Amino acid sequence: MSSFADYQHEIYFSGLAGNVPSLPMTAAGLEARAREVLEPAAFNYVAGSASAERTAAANTAAFEKYRLLPRMLRGASGPGARDLSIEVLGTRLAAPVLTAPVGVLGLLHERGEAIVAEVTRELGIGMELSTAASTTIEEAGAVAGDWWYQLYWPNDVELARSFVERAEKSGAKAIVVTVDTPSLGWRPRDLELAHLPFLHGKGIANYLSDPVFRAKLAAPPEESEDALRMAILTWAGMFGNHALRPADIARLRDWTELPIAVKGVLHPDDARQCVDAGADAVVVSNHGGRQVDSAVAALDALPTIVATVGDRADVLFDSGIRSGSDVMIALSLGSKAVLYGRPWAYGLGIAGRDGVRHALRCLLADFDAAMGLSGCATLSDLSRTMISSFR
Ligand code: FNR
Repeated sequence: MSSFADYQHEIYFSGLAGNVPSLPMTAAGLEARAREVLEPAAFNYVAGSASAERTAAANTAAFEKYRLLPRMLRGASGPGARDLSIEVLGTRLAAPVLTAPVGVLGLLHERGEAIVAEVTRELGIGMELSTAASTTIEEAGAVAGDWWYQLYWPNDVELARSFVERAEKSGAKAIVVTVDTPSLGWRPRDLELAHLPFLHGKGIANYLSDPVFRAKLAAPPEESEDALRMAILTWAGMFGNHALRPADIARLRDWTELPIAVKGVLHPDDARQCVDAGADAVVVSNHGGRQVDSAVAALDALPTIVATVGDRADVLFDSGIRSGSDVMIALSLGSKAVLYGRPWAYGLGIAGRDGVRHALRCLLADFDAAMGLSGCATLSDLSRTMISSFR
């Protein structure tokens, strides 16, 4: 049974002793605080999106088109009676939330991925570990609870396979292939600072530690500055893969028994192809608007994809979740779980472990409370009937 909403009582009772929270209570507040306290390069790497950032704005604006229709007098949705848990891709979660794969957390905190692994484990929610992590798959896997591995498929098939094998050995419960990033989007905020963390050797730990990758280097990257520079250039030549096709999803199906999700799908035909090729789930996402500007808001793409593949695969939602009601809307429209991104990353940069824990607890408490106040005792109470109007 869920007790996420107890965070509310914890805060009010601590107010009796004269304490007020030192961290902002909303996603917008976390972003504003992060803007104040983080180095511009780190803040802008997280906050920035592609081009005019229209899609990033559309992702959150899309939620304005929907209003919930709460139910009253249902008798069984009070604290202690609610169960927000769900099994998705064979992973049992205490709530339908996973942290989105966010790369280069070392920009925000030196123990970034380890902190996210510890906190998600404590809260009973899922974590998606990025290929572009600041720590290795093995290090993060050793502390994480229920985690999925996010694969950036490089343009070398043996390296892709090696990443998948390492994730499997380290305890990943699913593989999430991100298909919207065969190369990086045009991101003016990073361009203005001429800042790409990878070129500074950040976010490439999984490459530098990989036997297939290392076999391509003339000298080990630890040996000298020059050797590291050569390794970074090798990374730059291998990161993306514009040649990826649905047949590669089928190939991944042969490599691993783990469930497979494909992240970054917006068109129903793409979703259908992924599922035909063996994917167990698709993640409707536009990468937080960081790739194709003016791409459709993820929430606007969700219903058609649910209608197209929802009977054969799980549909997850990502890009734009900022509150508990957002989670309710995404689930009411047919997504099975959501990925939560930037707000907890801001929390990490502002206050390390406390910041991640706070940001995640805020979302979960808000969701838990909104479920109870809407007469929903379990996730099965969420369906189109919970939505009052939509265009
Ligand atoms: C990301 N995202 C991302 N996605 C992915 O598949 N692998 C990755 O390594 C990263 N790295 C990354 C870094 C940063 C700083 C951000 C902000 C995002 C995209 C992420 O998983 C997710 O799709 C977005 O964060 C969703 O958008 P919102 O809801 O956070 O705005």
